[in-house]
Amino acid sequence: MPISLMSIEHLDKIHKIDQETNPSPWSFENLKSSLEVGHHGLVSLKNDKVIGFAMFSALPPECHILNIAVDKEYQGMGEGSLLLKYVLKQSKAMRIKKISLEVRINNLKAINFYKSFGFTEDAIRDKYYPGNPREDALLMSTAI
Ligand SMILES: CC(C)(COP(=O)(O)OP(=O)(O)OC[C@H]1O[C@@H](n2cnc3c(N)ncnc32)[C@H](O)[C@@H]1OP(=O)(O)O)[C@@H](O)C(=O)NCCC(=O)NCCS
Repeated sequence: MPISLMSIEHLDKIHKIDQETNPSPWSFENLKSSLEVGHHGLVSLKNDKVIGFAMFSALPPECHILNIAVDKEYQGMGEGSLLLKYVLKQSKAMRIKKISLEVRINNLKAINFYKSFGFTEDAIRDKYYPGNPREDALLMSTAI
């Protein structure tokens, strides 16, 4: 399934996927301004419809993954892996040497996903995510 650069026209569907998969989803405005300030975005398309996305900030030699999600209907089918492969590919082209991210400590699926790409656990950030109770973040990174 093709991967394309994210554009403003994709944001409605991205917002919907984020709302359905993220316990603290971004607002539409946050997604829009993230693109506008120059963060990088990729979408995964099926029949011209967005079924997954990844957003990352790059300041060589480091890159930070801001958000990555796949429509529930298409999870577990390799779509997230394809997106992350492209994030790695673009990062390498930008001479990035290290990729980091935060993930909810109880999000074992995503933690496994990142581990399958060689990410390792660096630290825990206490009560990083909003909610009641708040949830800790696991900081992960990999050298590329
Ligand atoms: C995390 C996410 C992006 C992974 O995308 P995906 O398309 O479902 O994952 P893939 O099919 O590419 O699987 C890649 C690896 O992830 C792990 N994984 C996927 N589904 C899993 C599950 N149900 N349980 C445990 N590990 C799982 C496995 O290591 C898998 O590798 P394998 O197929 O060789 O076993 C996706 O599940 C998602 O959108 N989750 C909700 C949003 C989210 O948590 N984003 C991360 C925020 S930090």
